[in-house]
Amino acid sequence: MTNSPILILGGAGKTGRRIATQLGARDVGFKLASRSSEPRFDWQDDATWAATVRGTDTAYLAPPVDPAGLDAAGRFVEQAAAAGLRRVVLLSGRGVGRPGREYAVYDSGLALEEAVKDSGLDWTIVQPAWFMQNFSEEFLLDYVLAGQIRISAGDGAEAWIDTDDVGDVMTEALLDHRHIGQTYVLSGPRLLTLADVAAELAAVTGRKIDYVALGPDEHVAEMIAMGVPRPDAEAVGDLFAVIRNHRSEYLSDGVQRVLGREPRDFSGWARTTATRGVWTTEPTAARVS
Ligand SMILES: NC(=O)c1ccc[n+]([C@@H]2O[C@H](COP(=O)([O-])OP(=O)(O)OC[C@H]3O[C@@H](n4cnc5c(N)ncnc54)[C@H](OP(=O)(O)O)[C@@H]3O)[C@@H](O)[C@H]2O)c1
Repeated sequence: MTNSPILILGGAGKTGRRIATQLGARDVGFKLASRSSEPRFDWQDDATWAATVRGTDTAYLAPPVDPAGLDAAGRFVEQAAAAGLRRVVLLSGRGVGRPGREYAVYDSGLALEEAVKDSGLDWTIVQPAWFMQNFSEEFLLDYVLAGQIRISAGDGAEAWIDTDDVGDVMTEALLDHRHIGQTYVLSGPRLLTLADVAAELAAVTGRKIDYVALGPDEHVAEMIAMGVPRPDAEAVGDLFAVIRNHRSEYLSDGVQRVLGREPRDFSGWARTTATRGVWTTEPTAARVS
């Protein structure tokens, strides 16, 4: 447990804002760090790093997804340890460090995990499965709104996790020293293919939502045409190979190990999220009144 504010690197992203909410509810101080924070923090500008670390001894680290960004995060960890940081909780990804050809996509993530372990910091590493909230807060939302989930996941399944569970695990890891030196692998309770996901979302929204299985090159080209920077599009395209090749079809028990309860299920998440109006083009208030 720390007395200085907990540094949330990755700012108010999907996991960071959940951790901030949890810490705030427990009266634990925190400071967000990203390109929109004050002081500004940028993974691509190491001149911004020292001021961000000052005055804190514990950090949550949500790294960028692309290999260059992950390398920068590794350098940051080294510098932060030298500057006085003592503890880090790292958001990694399920599959990092697993043997097999498909997992080469996670090499930069593995290098970051190794940098964290070699840094001299007290560490906890959390490897979650893909987030359910990719369909409601992130890059897959537009597909849901358009009624066509156009990605290269083939007929592979994933054990989608509710990001609320990830936030709960991270908060515990940050606040309880018993998690030092542990790696937790998190998943939701059920495997769903993208066709299953589309059917679940169609059921709760009453909209026609289909899954369209793209080839890998076609998928990357479509993302770039939509404005995704090429390195991110290629990184995300590679990640989908893991699902497409059926390498994600297993459940993991990290939520149970850290929180002593079962992870939340996709159907309940989808029902609750639908009531918030994120999958309608009309504001929720207008729909309700
Ligand atoms: N999505 C999934 O299914 C999934 C599953 C497992 C692991 N992950 C991992 O989760 C990580 C992302 O975490 P997240 O989903 O919590 O975050 P997120 O929602 O993707 O948000 C990213 C945050 O990082 C900040 N950011 C972006 N570029 C930055 C830069 N150059 N310098 C400093 N800050 C920057 C952004 O804030 P500003 O715009 O203010 O800078 C934003 O708040 C990735 O490493 C990904 O591999 C994701």
